[in-house]
Amino acid sequence: MAIGQPTRGVIWVAGASSGIGAAIARRLSAEGYTVAASARRSARLRVLARSYPSLHAFPCDCADADAVRRTVEALEERFGAIRALIHCVGTALFKPFLDISPEEFAELIRHNLWSTFLCTRAVLPGMLHQQQGIVVAIGSVASLKAFPRSSAYGGLKAAVAQMLRALREEVRPHGVKIINVHVGATETPLWPATMRRRWRAQMLLPDDVAKTIASLLTLASNPQLLPEELVLRPQLGDLP
Ligand SMILES: NC(=O)c1ccc[n+]([C@@H]2O[C@H](COP(=O)([O-])OP(=O)(O)OC[C@H]3O[C@@H](n4cnc5c(N)ncnc54)[C@H](OP(=O)(O)O)[C@@H]3O)[C@@H](O)[C@H]2O)c1
Repeated sequence: MAIGQPTRGVIWVAGASSGIGAAIARRLSAEGYTVAASARRSARLRVLARSYPSLHAFPCDCADADAVRRTVEALEERFGAIRALIHCVGTALFKPFLDISPEEFAELIRHNLWSTFLCTRAVLPGMLHQQQGIVVAIGSVASLKAFPRSSAYGGLKAAVAQMLRALREEVRPHGVKIINVHVGATETPLWPATMRRRWRAQMLLPDDVAKTIASLLTLASNPQLLPEELVLRPQLGDLP
């Protein structure tokens, strides 16, 4: 049975109120998956949930350990099992190294590295118990290639990717799949409006990323096969 069939648990999309996560939540719901959508802006999640009967809003600050624990308990109680976590939570900071304040760096850690740790840590016991489950982390090409003004952002995305690579080896024998997706410039509110207007034609579109994630879930539903890492760049490459 394919992972997407509603009787087989829920897909938790963390960071679903905007951009890539919202597109993934919409796409997976449209394809018949049962989706739980989390983020801090609950009004946005409610609007999404009104459009798709199989999409459910579960507001959560994914950088808050108690909130993440409560959300996962609520999901498991309501849906029985979390079949996949698609982690799209993140914020960006593009600044020269010396302009980054300690407070900004700490915030970036919270929304990128810390939230990935918390969400993954919360879903894993259920997945290990079921001997199946998928964690997809939406990361960035900034973890693979050095861009100026991305020391903090790229460094933290690289830390997330490497943390999950090590976890992949721990859970591989237990049927749990950990997948890193390194995404290139995508037209979302992560970018300032001026950048989006200027480079839109050269950027990935959130729905194209979402379609790729849907295909990835189908691929990963083969118990024999693990698509470990995927790099998704615009055809014309990185923005200059
Ligand atoms: N756009 C790109 O070019 C690009 C490229 C590579 C990788 N990425 C990565 O893709 C992911 C999604 O980015 P995006 O481009 O879609 O940006 P976005 O439109 O700004 O979306 C970010 C999402 O993260 C959520 N979020 C942030 N902090 C959160 C927290 N503490 N708890 C719960 N949710 C939180 C936001 O929801 P709330 O504010 O409502 O909480 C929002 O739904 C990020 O990790 C980003 O680094 C983006």
